[in-house]
Amino acid sequence: MKQIWITKAGAPEVLEIREADDPVPGPDEVAIDVHAAGVNFADVLARMGMYPDAPPIPCVVGYEVAGTIAESGPETDDGSSSRDHPLPAGTRVLALTRFGGYASRVCVPVNQVFAIPDDMRFAEAASLPVNYFTAALAVERFGNLVPGERILIHNAGGGVGIAAIQLSRAIGAKIYGSASAWKHDQLKLLGVDRLVDYRTEDWVEAITASTGGEGVHVIIDPIGGRNLSLDLKVLAPLGRLIAFGLSEPVRNGRRSLLRTLRSVMAMPRPGFLTLLNRNWSIAGLNLGHLWSEIDRLRDVGDAILAGWTRGDLRPVIAAEIPFEEAGEAHRMLEERRNLGKVILTT
Ligand SMILES: NC(=O)c1ccc[n+]([C@@H]2O[C@H](COP(=O)([O-])OP(=O)(O)OC[C@H]3O[C@@H](n4cnc5c(N)ncnc54)[C@H](OP(=O)(O)O)[C@@H]3O)[C@@H](O)[C@H]2O)c1
Repeated sequence: MKQIWITKAGAPEVLEIREADDPVPGPDEVAIDVHAAGVNFADVLARMGMYPDAPPIPCVVGYEVAGTIAESGPETDDGSSSRDHPLPAGTRVLALTRFGGYASRVCVPVNQVFAIPDDMRFAEAASLPVNYFTAALAVERFGNLVPGERILIHNAGGGVGIAAIQLSRAIGAKIYGSASAWKHDQLKLLGVDRLVDYRTEDWVEAITASTGGEGVHVIIDPIGGRNLSLDLKVLAPLGRLIAFGLSEPVRNGRRSLLRTLRSVMAMPRPGFLTLLNRNWSIAGLNLGHLWSEIDRLRDVGDAILAGWTRGDLRPVIAAEIPFEEAGEAHRMLEERRNLGKVILTT
């Protein structure tokens, strides 16, 4: 099989394709022949050596794949999930992978694998796990968004942002989004009612004005740092703020320790009295720290696949890039050139 390695911390050029022996599935695991692997901002940070959750460099990252089942490992006797989810060889699937997804074959526990419908392309399937699980947990579970409410989706043109737009639209909410200006026209077509460019305009003023001073009920924010303080200025009573990232300190594909520290220091620290008096709820979300809960999260995956079948959820794919050009895939994210998901193809 081939794998894309981060050979050392640095620019996209440090990504290198290497050959390796095919992995053998262990108990309750399946081997998947990968056709498409999702690229995430976390992978870019890992490549820079700035992602504490990633394995030590040199390493193979990648949180999600789609492909076909090649073989299954032995089933264990203790109520094995493989009996609950039989996946014969040839089944088309998507899977969450805890790293190692940038590979033409992966082995993963069967409870991280979902069969996909025939009309779903592999590139579409590989776009679902990270972006749609994160968006569903943020918008539905923590955000508890209901029809008629207003939601502000930061980074609306990213993979998570577009997933959140589609979920919010299906709920019947009014959608506000922040993104680079060149993405606004397409995001309007996807259903965003009002867009702001958080880097060039006073978006707090714009959101305040366009909500008649009332603010929004749910905010999902992967930017972090000072942006979270601004969020609180537009959070309505009974509002829910969900923080799920820290992209603020990354500039032109670089993240310095000093900027990161500044960004962390700039995060607001509202006390319980403030929350109580403002009727606010604040949540943090990190999908990468939920591996132990995967059995509890299978319903999220099932709901996402049901959303696909209904036609509510359709990943927007910015680019499908061959493994051999993985550096370009990372560059697209760093240079803010993607609208939607970037996929690597084997
Ligand atoms: N906590 C979790 O479980 C979790 C899960 C998934 C993703 N995330 C986080 O959510 C964010 C969005 O992920 P995604 O996969 O949707 O994003 P993506 O598709 O990789 O989006 C990249 C986009 O992020 C925006 N961006 C914001 N700050 C940036 C910066 N400093 N440098 C470069 N681009 C920046 C840019 O769009 P604009 O210029 O239009 O803003 C860029 O086009 C990331 O920060 C990621 O780490 C967290």
